[in-house]
Amino acid sequence: MQGAWIQSGSRRGILGGGVPFVVVQRAGIAGIISGTHAPLTPPALIPPDALDTFDTIYARRSVKQFDPEHRLTEEEVTKLMTAAMQAPTSFNIQHWRFVIVDDADLRKEIRAVGNDQAQMTDASLLVVMTADTLAWKKDPQRYWQNAPTEVAELLVNWMGPFHEGREWLQRDEAQRSIGMAMQTLMLGAKAMGYDSCPMIGFEIEKVAELIGLPEGHVMGPMVAIGKGTKEPWPKPGQLSMAEVVIRNRFA
Ligand SMILES: Cc1cc2nc3c(=O)[nH]c(=O)nc-3n(C[C@H](O)[C@H](O)[C@H](O)COP(=O)(O)O)c2cc1C
Repeated sequence: MQGAWIQSGSRRGILGGGVPFVVVQRAGIAGIISGTHAPLTPPALIPPDALDTFDTIYARRSVKQFDPEHRLTEEEVTKLMTAAMQAPTSFNIQHWRFVIVDDADLRKEIRAVGNDQAQMTDASLLVVMTADTLAWKKDPQRYWQNAPTEVAELLVNWMGPFHEGREWLQRDEAQRSIGMAMQTLMLGAKAMGYDSCPMIGFEIEKVAELIGLPEGHVMGPMVAIGKGTKEPWPKPGQLSMAEVVIRNRFA
């Protein structure tokens, strides 16, 4: 059964805001894949030669040179974005908004305010990670639509007071979620045989303007994904575990 997706016909429906959803089960785990405009086909079977999780974690590196001629198929893009959407979010708020930039001119404009980083124009896929800090008040029952009623009521009713008036928390939540989705995207890309590069080396306000970032949304980094053409340099300097792993209390 591993790798197989089962669609449960009785659990199709429309979420608040007209968003279609389909509940799928994979290896016994139910999940919801939803979206407003992306094709909703569940990802293809994981190839048998896919890297295992730890191999993938170690193999992922920030690659700076990509083959500008290479294109990802729509299926591959859907598979990657569907994977990114499996990243956890507090209250299941799913407030990330992934901006796929496939307009070549816009890519050039981004590069012009992005320290001339070639990844921005050359990678097959460029995703600007953003999040809606106000998603907690936008029809929040849809985030819990398939949960038992008492669980849904508890969490939906708690979401408002948890976020209300705490702008710092709304921003922290947004960046946490962006980080997890971004790593999911990069590991997913590696497992599919692609390379990636996370990037924050750009003029954030200018890129926000270029992509028309709506009110209440925040910018995160962007991620370039594609066919790497040059090995990354060796890991630039790994700290010792003694410095970064603390047992119980800081000394
Ligand atoms: C949030 C974030 C922003 C980054 N921004 C850039 C960037 O603008 N350009 C770049 O070439 N690398 C960027 N990097 C890549 C880091 O330099 C890289 O992750 C680090 O040196 C470790 O190397 P590795 O990712 O190959 O393991 C960024 C990484 C992160 C996590």
